[in-house]
Amino acid sequence: DWTTGNVIEEQVAAIREQVGDKRAICGLSGGVDSAVAAALVQKAIGSQLTCVYVDHGLMRKGETEQVEKDFVAATGVQLKVVDAEERFLKALAGVSDPEEKRKIIGREFIRVFEQAQLEIMQEDGPEVAFLVQGTLYPDVVESGGGTGTANIKSHHNVGGLPDDIEFELVEPLRQLFKDEVRMVGQELGLPDEIVQRQPFPGPGLGIRIVGEVTKERLDLLREADAIAREELTAAGLDRDIWQCPVVLLADVRSVGVQGDGRTYGHPIVLRPVSSEDAMTADWSRLPYDVLAKISTRITNEVKDVNRVVLDVTSKPPGTIEWE
Ligand code: XMP
Repeated sequence: DWTTGNVIEEQVAAIREQVGDKRAICGLSGGVDSAVAAALVQKAIGSQLTCVYVDHGLMRKGETEQVEKDFVAATGVQLKVVDAEERFLKALAGVSDPEEKRKIIGREFIRVFEQAQLEIMQEDGPEVAFLVQGTLYPDVVESGGGTGTANIKSHHNVGGLPDDIEFELVEPLRQLFKDEVRMVGQELGLPDEIVQRQPFPGPGLGIRIVGEVTKERLDLLREADAIAREELTAAGLDRDIWQCPVVLLADVRSVGVQGDGRTYGHPIVLRPVSSEDAMTADWSRLPYDVLAKISTRITNEVKDVNRVVLDVTSKPPGTIEWE
């Protein structure tokens, strides 16, 4: 019968069988699926696994530390962290168009990740033949059910490697739904902040700044987002909402009065939504006192923000994210 204990036991045996004495790599995004997949594989093959985390500088406050410290502490996994903030900021400089931003972030991410993979492959040790992915059952159904391989092309001038490297995929979550993945993660001892995390887009805060992405704006948005998350958690609302993007309208200014003077600052948008699967969504009817608290704190504590507005649009017509 179905217990998390049985699932873990079965998967550990299957992973050991599949990987044998070779090595595997796994990209961590900070999300639930990659974290649980990595923890399972770590339990099965230990030091034969190396995880890669690309810090693109677009994460929310505390998220990189969660991976670097808490995830490593909980699993003992070997982790390679690539600090690529400067590279991403440079690539994003001067870019305001949402699709352009997404393309740049995606492209840089793959380049940095592949470079890290190649470095791991060049370390002493058994062949790196496997790539771990947190594919869930709904993803399997959606894509027609095949298992697969993944190619990476080495266009990085790293010597001594073939032009095209093929990995076999390890997908230990292929039979599981999201809530089951969370249960397995919990059983494996992962921290709640990771296991219960709400969805967060791959391009991160880069697509939550309407306008050009700069370090200063990211820092500002990180502060506002942290306040919103803190107050939603304190009010016990995390399970009631699907997610709550916090968006900085960096290209908009409005007049305000703060302290003893006139200000000309930026608005922050709160976008709390309820949803089953993110395909459609409704705006969350949050209690006014919680909204008031968030608004007061953000305008008091975050420099250059003098207005907080609430997005009351369902999806459709609005998407959940603003970009
Ligand atoms: P939208 O904005 O399209 O978002 O209503 C639907 C869900 O997808 C998330 N999202 C992303 N997730 N990479 C991701 O991994 C992305 O590029 C991306 N864009 C949007 C969004 O947060 C919401 O949960």
